[in-house]
Amino acid sequence: MISQEMASRINAQINREMYSANFYLALSAQAEAMSLRGVAAWFFAKHGEELEHAMKMYRYLIDQDAVVRIGDVAAPEAVEPSVIEMFERTLSHERGVTANINDLVDHALSEKDHATNIFLHWFVTEQIEEEATVNDILGRVRLFGDQGQSLMLIDNELADVAKQIGQAQDTTAA
Ligand SMILES: [Fe+2]
Ligand SMILES: [Fe+2]
Repeated sequence: MISQEMASRINAQINREMYSANFYLALSAQAEAMSLRGVAAWFFAKHGEELEHAMKMYRYLIDQDAVVRIGDVAAPEAVEPSVIEMFERTLSHERGVTANINDLVDHALSEKDHATNIFLHWFVTEQIEEEATVNDILGRVRLFGDQGQSLMLIDNELADVAKQIGQAQDTTAA
């Protein structure tokens, strides 16, 4: 059992994870429209990961006998159809999520809620990896540019990464 306050904060995070899923789905659709199959597959894989994050929190609330509230999910803002812009927005989005997760940990600690604190550790680690991955992609896109051949190479590379994420998701589901 966790406090109502802790549960409502996790519910708010479930909503933000669902927002993240839609944010990535919109970027995936935009990449599809730009004929960037690899970039589209990468954002689509992120969409799947964000839904998994929401479901982890959903399951945690149920296991803790807390109330799950599914609220309205805000529409993602339009992003310029430029690959650099898409990854810049992704990085600033993930940094915002990291701050949200840190706030949740702060609250769990303030309540001496050890179970929620431990549960949130997975998300703390996940955010380090997410920011690092996006930073790496963005660094390469800035270095090589997001046009012509370099864009084609990055698109191919992200297609491979998306395949690996897809395989990892299959393994987790199995
Ligand atoms: Fe997430
Ligand atoms: Fe994320």
